[in-house]
Parts: sequence; C-alpha cells; structure tokens
Amino acid sequence: MPSHFRDTEQQGVPDVITGGPEPVQTITASTDIARSEGSAVDAPASGSLYAPLESKGKVVPRTGTPTISLRGVTLIYPAQPNKPALDDVSLDIYPGDFVFVVGHSGSGKSTFLRLLTREIKATKGDVIVAGQNLTKMRNWKVPYLRRQIGTVYQDFKLLPDKTVYGNVAFALECIGKPRSVIEAQVPEVLRLVGLAEKMDNFPDQLSGGEQQRVSVARAMVNRPPLLVCDEPTGNLDPAISLGIMKLLDRINQTGTTVVMATHDREMVDSMRRRVVALEAGHVVRDQERGGYGFYDAL
Ligand SMILES: Nc1ncnc2c1ncn2[C@@H]1O[C@H](COP(=O)(O)OP(=O)(O)OP(=O)(O)O)[C@@H](O)[C@H]1O
Ligand SMILES: [Mg+2]
Repeated sequence: MPSHFRDTEQQGVPDVITGGPEPVQTITASTDIARSEGSAVDAPASGSLYAPLESKGKVVPRTGTPTISLRGVTLIYPAQPNKPALDDVSLDIYPGDFVFVVGHSGSGKSTFLRLLTREIKATKGDVIVAGQNLTKMRNWKVPYLRRQIGTVYQDFKLLPDKTVYGNVAFALECIGKPRSVIEAQVPEVLRLVGLAEKMDNFPDQLSGGEQQRVSVARAMVNRPPLLVCDEPTGNLDPAISLGIMKLLDRINQTGTTVVMATHDREMVDSMRRRVVALEAGHVVRDQERGGYGFYDAL
C-alpha cells in the first residue's frame, strides 16, 4: 500500500480509491473533498451530476465511436526539426474512459494533450476529437472545440484579480452564457468541489489544493464531455492530491472522458485505470488497469 494513501486514511478519508471493501454510502464531491481537507461540508445539490466513487480498475469497452482518435500523428516543433516530440502515434480513447499518460520528462505527454485542445496542430496525421479533425480545423472553429474540453493544469492558471466565484463565472461569461445560468451553475459547481464558503476569496487567499479545486470547478462548470489534465496534482502534497484525484474520478463517473498526464506513480498504481506510456514520442505501452511502470530519474 503506497505510504501517502495510508496517511490519508489515517486522516479519516474513506478507502475508496486504495482498495479494501468499497463503501456502500453515496459520497458526494463536496463532503468527500471537504473531509480530506478538513473544510466545511456543504450539502450536495439535489440531482447532482457527480456520482459516488466506484471506478477502481474500471475498464471502458473499446467499442463505438472514439471521443479521441489519433492516426499516424507526428508533431515536430520548429525548434527541434530532427527530433519529433511525437512520432507516428495512433491511439483511440472511448467515451467515459479515464486514461493516465505517463513517461519520462520530455517524452511527449504535454505535446499529446496540447494536440487535443488544438493548442498545436499535428505536423502529420489526423487528430480527431468529438468527431472533428483538428488537423484540418479552421482556426475560427477552435474556440467552439474548446467549449467541449475542460482543462486543468499543474499551475492552476487562475486569474489573480478575480474571486473564486469570478474565476469560475468567467469561463461561462466568455462563451456568452446568460447571467441567470451563471448564477445557478457557479454556486452549484463550487458546492460540489467543497468551496461554497470561499466563493468571495481571491486565489492568493487559498491553499494549493483549494486553488486546484477552483480550476477543476472552472473546467467542469460548462459540463464538457472531455477533461484534459496536465499534471493536475504536480504542485500538491499527497493527501491533497488524493482529494483532487477523487474529484476527477467522480467527474469521470458521470461519463466525462478524462485524459491526464502525470508523474504520480502512487496515484496511477492505486487507480488501476488505462495507462498510455510514452517514450521519446512513441507509445510504448497501452494497458487496461495499468500501473505506472518503471521510470527512474523522472
Ligand atoms: N515549444 C517547444 N518548442 C520546441 N520543443 C519543444 C516545445 N515544447 C516541448 N518541446 C520538446 O518536445 C519534447 C516533448 O515535450 P513535452 O513537453 O511534450 O514533454 P512532457 O512529457 O510533457 O515532459 P514533462 O514531464 O517534463 O512535462 C521535448 O523534447 C521538449 O523539449
Ligand atoms: Mg509536460
């Protein structure tokens, strides 16, 4: 049993990821996360989107139309013309899947994720997300693609001069949602991540774990079918990372496809979900119920 999970159990977090009997009770995002960080517990909204955590080792059948499909994808950054960051990668990710992308620093994980959001365009091959070929997509369509993709990053990327509420609301304001929708959805999603009481705080008044929960709330508030996370727990200590991981897992339980780059060996080994391992731009492993594998000097 990895040590930091043991520590967290000692703090009273239910053993829902790490093994042992699965609890029968319904654990909401807000109550569970609040317990893991010791903050106030908010009553979950009725008809909540977020399901209990039951997904350990869950395998999503690889049938139907993939949410994400890469076909012979090569990405060459102009600054490194002789060393493709991704080299002839083909991969399918199906709706509802939870995929960890692992590998050494520089192996191409962030490059892979940046292709999915069309931050960068494949040099060769096709990247198909939600039925659209991003290699051929016109630039003006990219903002519409991004409405369907929530993103969470290691460094949170919150706006420092906006409150917690303002940061989450901004995601909806940018896509022209009416005030009535914003006023309904923002408090609900903040309740679900256990931050209803901190709505009026500014980012510099929050802990790292709380800031990351704001960024997860912001990524989810428009209920996108795909969540792309680049080392979302990279700046957080293990117990707080576990809380964020549970939140992402619970979001995945509602049907959201999650693709997450990570160096967090214990998390990957504990969750036993699909693992795609990259090495020097190649997929070297694609495993259901995978483990982190052996990477030293990460
Ligand atoms: N903007 C860029 N210009 C040139 N080369 C880049 C650029 N971004 C990344 N690279 C190179 O592409 C390769 C893959 O980088 P990438 O950021 O995808 O790795 P990573 O697996 O996410 O690493 P880490 O674990 O450190 O985040 C590396 O060799 C890196 O140096
Ligand atoms: Mg990276």
